[in-house]
Amino acid sequence: MCGIIGILGRGDVADQLVDALKRLEYRGYDSTGIATLQDGRIARRRAEGKLRNLEVKLASDPLPGRTGIGHTRWATHGRPTEANAHPHATDRLALVHNGIIENYRELRFALEDEGVRFSSETDTEVVAQAVSHEMASGLDPQAAVLAVLPRLRGAFALAFLFEGEEDLMIGARRGSPLAVGYGDGEMFLGSDALALAPFSDDITYLEEGDVVVATRAGASFFDESGTPVARRRQRIPVGVFAAEKGNHRHYMIKEIYEQPEVVARTLAPHLDIEQAPALDWKAQQRLTITACGTAFYAGLVAKYWFERLGRLPVEIDVASEFRYREAPLPEKGLMIVVSQSGETADTLAGLRYAKAHGQTVLAVVNVPTSSMAREADLVAQTHAGPEIGVASTKAFTCQLATLFALALQAGRARGHVSAQEAQALAETVQRVPGLMHEAMALEPQIEALARDLAKARDVLYFGRGAAFPIAMEGALKLKEISYIHAEGYAAGELKHGPIALIDETTPVVVVAPYDHLFEKTISNMQEVAARGGRIVLITDEEGAAHAHIDTLATLVLPKMDPLVAPIAYAVPVQLIAYHTAVFMGKDVDQPRNLAKSVTVE
Ligand code: AGP
Repeated sequence: MCGIIGILGRGDVADQLVDALKRLEYRGYDSTGIATLQDGRIARRRAEGKLRNLEVKLASDPLPGRTGIGHTRWATHGRPTEANAHPHATDRLALVHNGIIENYRELRFALEDEGVRFSSETDTEVVAQAVSHEMASGLDPQAAVLAVLPRLRGAFALAFLFEGEEDLMIGARRGSPLAVGYGDGEMFLGSDALALAPFSDDITYLEEGDVVVATRAGASFFDESGTPVARRRQRIPVGVFAAEKGNHRHYMIKEIYEQPEVVARTLAPHLDIEQAPALDWKAQQRLTITACGTAFYAGLVAKYWFERLGRLPVEIDVASEFRYREAPLPEKGLMIVVSQSGETADTLAGLRYAKAHGQTVLAVVNVPTSSMAREADLVAQTHAGPEIGVASTKAFTCQLATLFALALQAGRARGHVSAQEAQALAETVQRVPGLMHEAMALEPQIEALARDLAKARDVLYFGRGAAFPIAMEGALKLKEISYIHAEGYAAGELKHGPIALIDETTPVVVVAPYDHLFEKTISNMQEVAARGGRIVLITDEEGAAHAHIDTLATLVLPKMDPLVAPIAYAVPVQLIAYHTAVFMGKDVDQPRNLAKSVTVE
């Protein structure tokens, strides 16, 4: 979950490195650093905390040099201190790393036994010292890197620069993404195309196990055995990085407001219901879905849709469990992976497990150049645009929109949804962006409510049916940006334990469109009210009219088909989390301990 950048430049590169790190900060931001070669000598500036701390250092103590590397960190081994910040350096090289070296301890002990002294607690420094040790025994940089890589277990994207080698940068990839950007007399290495966007759209992605040896004249690629391999150069028309917040205070609220537009854009390619599906839905015995975090909740909503519309049994699990469960999978079955970044390590591992077991894999991803997009058999892209807020919002509702369209397609293909029904449902879901826009009108009421929620130590979220995953998503949103403990529950589970938590200090948020489950949910809420619980009811006009319970607030959304309600009901739970966190003065876009893309286990 870190971001790395390397530049063989024409002029000084420090400013370009910092500019790239700004684009990578969403991948981790607890410490940063850069290194350059000055007259062939390695020099570094590193800082704890946000990138702006490094910029302050560089303003007072600039770092010239035409060859450099940079890093923004999400700590895996070693506290987020300056000593643990990358780049790590020896007297021969400097190194930045994204990933986890699982066997770093044994490697470190072996090097210490040979007299090597360490200056950090990190796994990364072990790699730097190991390569440096090989060079001390006479190997050149490329041979030294190739000698060390096979000893490493775990995931890494690495970028090295070497003392005295102004026109050399070496990169390596296993499990974490790394791309080469070609310039005019310049060369770039970065974690993703967005980081490289300002420098080049002429990109090569390293594949698993690749090593790249780059000079200003070009790049040569090798596999881990050192055998030369050919890798494709491609133009990545990366739209100008939607870097501006416009007149919004945070990326998150900007992205919440972008939802009607991007959900409509995502739905558009799917709404010709007679379009021949790319998948043989009829042949499917069972569908497997895996994802992490918010994307998992999108998959959970999709389970209700595929089973209801397609009569297709769905088995879904969080990817961190699925990848190790050795789940038996149907012969020639179908797996759907859901991911905004397309780089989440656990989900990518789930994809690879499924492919290794004969499954056709469909990836619902937001980044078309991501590892999952490249490794899946089919891609259903969400068109949310770059999502910068660490708390996922627009990507989530675009995932829901895509999954609804796929479930409708499955229902049609499997003969459970007639052409007329499919046309009606396509028109129903096409109205959702407008309903989401109307839901934004709840913001002032939610902003006022946030003052109350901000005082809570715990908040419970309840929902039934496809509203249950929205309750869990609402709890995740609140906890990850306000740091208030929140839990999402199936409303029917209330009396099986959580009701013990109910008193006047624990707000209860209920996601309940007026559907066939509403009365049951409301009777659960009577149990909450009877114990002094304070209820926030999220429903529609009919629900509000039939609830007959006292609430802390009733948030009324427009009437809609309950089948598509999960998409629009995401808006109020997102706004509740946002305004509560803002009222509490939290760092909404970059919450503590988190990163946007979890590319390590
Ligand atoms: C969402 O608000 C979280 N930041 C997190 O749970 C995220 O959804 C999860 O890490 C999955 O990321 P992905 O969609 O990029 O795979």
